[in-house]
Amino acid sequence: MANWRIPLAAVVVQAVLSRTSQALWCNCTTAQCEKTGSQCETDGACMASTSLIDGQEQHIRVCITRDKLVPPGQPFYCRGAEGFLNIHCCYTDYCNSIDLKVPSVTTSSGLGGGYGPGGTWGLVELVAVIVGPLFLLCLLLLVGVFLYQYHQRAYNHRQRLEVEDPSCDHIYLPKDRTLQDLIYDLSTSGSGSGLPLFVQRTVARTIVLQEIIGKGRFGEVWRGRWRGGDVAVKIFSSREERSWFREAEIYQTIMLRHENILGFIAADNKDNGTWTQLWLVSDYHEHGSLFDYLNHYSVTTEGMIKLALSAASGLAHLHMEILGTQGKPGIAHRDLKSKNILVKKNCNCAIADLGLAVRHDSATDTIDIAPNQRVGTKRYMAPEVLDETINMRHFESFKCADIYALGLVYWEIARRCNSGGIHEDYQLPYYDLVPSDPSIEEMRKVVCDQKLRPNIPNWWRSYEALRVMGKIMRECWYANGAARLTALRIKKTLSQLTIQEDIKV
Ligand SMILES: Nc1ncnc2c1ncn2[C@@H]1O[C@H](COP(=O)(O)OP(=O)(O)OP(=O)(O)O)[C@@H](O)[C@H]1O
Ligand SMILES: [Mg+2]
Repeated sequence: MANWRIPLAAVVVQAVLSRTSQALWCNCTTAQCEKTGSQCETDGACMASTSLIDGQEQHIRVCITRDKLVPPGQPFYCRGAEGFLNIHCCYTDYCNSIDLKVPSVTTSSGLGGGYGPGGTWGLVELVAVIVGPLFLLCLLLLVGVFLYQYHQRAYNHRQRLEVEDPSCDHIYLPKDRTLQDLIYDLSTSGSGSGLPLFVQRTVARTIVLQEIIGKGRFGEVWRGRWRGGDVAVKIFSSREERSWFREAEIYQTIMLRHENILGFIAADNKDNGTWTQLWLVSDYHEHGSLFDYLNHYSVTTEGMIKLALSAASGLAHLHMEILGTQGKPGIAHRDLKSKNILVKKNCNCAIADLGLAVRHDSATDTIDIAPNQRVGTKRYMAPEVLDETINMRHFESFKCADIYALGLVYWEIARRCNSGGIHEDYQLPYYDLVPSDPSIEEMRKVVCDQKLRPNIPNWWRSYEALRVMGKIMRECWYANGAARLTALRIKKTLSQLTIQEDIKV
């Protein structure tokens, strides 16, 4: 069917255009029309207007050219203003000779009037026009006030921390004292549990970070400077607050300080108003972890024994319960591995990363946190951890699992021992049996089902130190945790070996 419906707007425009296409004569009252007998010719429309200006009536009649008749249908030129101007446009000769009424002035029209796209505005639109921007302004003001108050509160909070923190204005740390001196002088009642908290904060806040030295599961490790000396700063993200708190808590266990356990200096939570930075400051060891060290260097027999003995000493101290008021609970590490042992300048080990450790309360025979079954690094998990047969109510089980991991670390060290000009390359335990990031299942198959352990080469038997190390490893790796050596036993065996080998430790 033919489309016969022409849009209504088009009809109106067409009608106006056809009416204005011919010349049209109109009455004209302007000065220019005096010469043409007060008339004008146009291709557009005739217009008459009556206005009231300062109480005076004004009547005007003019021609309007066609190009001014926009928009079609309702040209601007032909619109009146209520209470002020009456206008009439028309399209026949002299049609503007009519007398228009003088606009009537009414206060209501003055209030309710106004121009909108469709003509005059109603009261509702006017209210909206006035109230809308006002509302927006109020909203902006409110947001501004809220933001200002929030910042003030954050600022005050920071100020309060600074004021409350006695370290800022009261404490005086003697300039000539090193960290070691301070720790020795200020450690709470000489128990070795560390610096008082406000000194920890003072130290932490005056450290200048230098370079990032490592990244772990919980954050970054930086080298920092304090009074001309190096310190290590482990920075936890706010998400890891629990790990930060737990690690700081364990490090501050009374009597924990030991030459083979990483020296803890300070814990600090810095609130910068937006987020919290959690710092754990410790001794810095430029060799880095045992993993880093063995990757770089092979070791002499003496070096191997020193590393092994110092690691056993550290673990024996950690595991040991010391009775008495200045006593120390037994602590199991639960994440022992070559990456969590640092190598000191004197090539002795310092056990680090105590964040997953558990403490034993011998009075009640309980553990200080609810231990979850499988924490730590899968590659180093003992068979009973992998197959979940570990008795978690029994603190000794956790110590036995640490010993299994220590045996793996010994294997890593012994491979790098130079004996008769031979040493092997560095490898992680089970490097030949599992992929690089093994799953629990992959580890369990190898360690529990196939009962495989890292290879102890036959030629190690030809060298006393390696033979002893091999024997210790085997006795660390028994499937039955209770049958494994204790850290103290290993320490004694290796001490004897140092005498045998004439090694100074
Ligand atoms: N006190 C320190 N002195 C020198 N280097 C350190 C110190 N502490 C950590 N590092 C370096 O930073 C690295 C990262 O340590 P971090 O404990 O965060 O992770 P990781 O031990 O490698 O892995 P994981 O998260 O499994 O413990 C270490 O491997 C070591 O090289
Ligand atoms: Mg670590």
